[in-house]
Amino acid sequence: MRLQNKVAVITGAASGFGAGTARLFATEGAAVVVADISDEAGESVADSINSSGGKAVYVHADVTSRDDTRNMIDAAEKLGGRLDILINNAGYSHPNKEFATVTDHEFDRVYDVNVKAVFIAIQEALPVFRRNGGGCIINTSSTAALRPRPGLAVYCSSKGAVSNLTKALAVELAPDKIRVNAICPVIGETGMLETFMGVPDTPENRKKFEATIPLGRFSTPNDIAQTLLFLSSDDAEFLTGVALEVDGGRCV
Ligand SMILES: NC(=O)c1ccc[n+]([C@@H]2O[C@H](COP(=O)([O-])OP(=O)(O)OC[C@H]3O[C@@H](n4cnc5c(N)ncnc54)[C@H](O)[C@@H]3O)[C@@H](O)[C@H]2O)c1
Repeated sequence: MRLQNKVAVITGAASGFGAGTARLFATEGAAVVVADISDEAGESVADSINSSGGKAVYVHADVTSRDDTRNMIDAAEKLGGRLDILINNAGYSHPNKEFATVTDHEFDRVYDVNVKAVFIAIQEALPVFRRNGGGCIINTSSTAALRPRPGLAVYCSSKGAVSNLTKALAVELAPDKIRVNAICPVIGETGMLETFMGVPDTPENRKKFEATIPLGRFSTPNDIAQTLLFLSSDDAEFLTGVALEVDGGRCV
């Protein structure tokens, strides 16, 4: 088991990439804090982990709230006595639409969930990581940061901020033995698929997007979970400041 005795917090873990990652991390020995605002789905992810022999707890945490975030980090210490891995996965986008029609409220929401929440979570986790003598942070960026699609300019720019924050902090936190990496998934089969496509999820519409990915398919929660597992494990102990594409060649 590659995460034996480790404790992980995963935000946005009630569905999609986050849920897949919570399940894989638990089978690899990690105790997992499943954090989300979608309570029923989040409870169900934690229950399924616990009933299959793993260790997890669901915590209601709106990542835009500092109080919720502090509570989420505390939950890790209550669950496993420490914190080793923080996965900042929760994300939001307005539906794909023309830039000129994006409202101030939509802009603020995108930046609050995708960028400010990462700032808050890392600040709240830092004292715990420092006490433990190190830690691992992985932020979910996107291929949107590297190869933007039209209709998502605000979302794309927010993920650019996530990638750059990752690199800046990798350097700043290296003396504390805290590794900071990001992943850049290509469009995936999750709750956000229609939001990104901006058209109904039909086989014809999927084909148009799949045609833009050299390996010919969308990313899956398992693709993302396996990548996060590697980056979180001791096998990646010399990797920091990486924003790794998980994209079937989309960004080549
Ligand atoms: N699906 C894609 O095509 C794709 C591609 C690249 C990057 N991403 C990124 O992957 C991450 C995970 O998204 P997903 O595709 O699994 O989508 P998803 O909708 O299946 O999961 C996102 C989760 O985040 C939670 N969430 C939203 N706002 C929150 C908040 N304020 N506090 C706590 N939780 C909140 C949602 O409840 C949901 O459970 C996001 O950061 C997203 O931007 C997705």
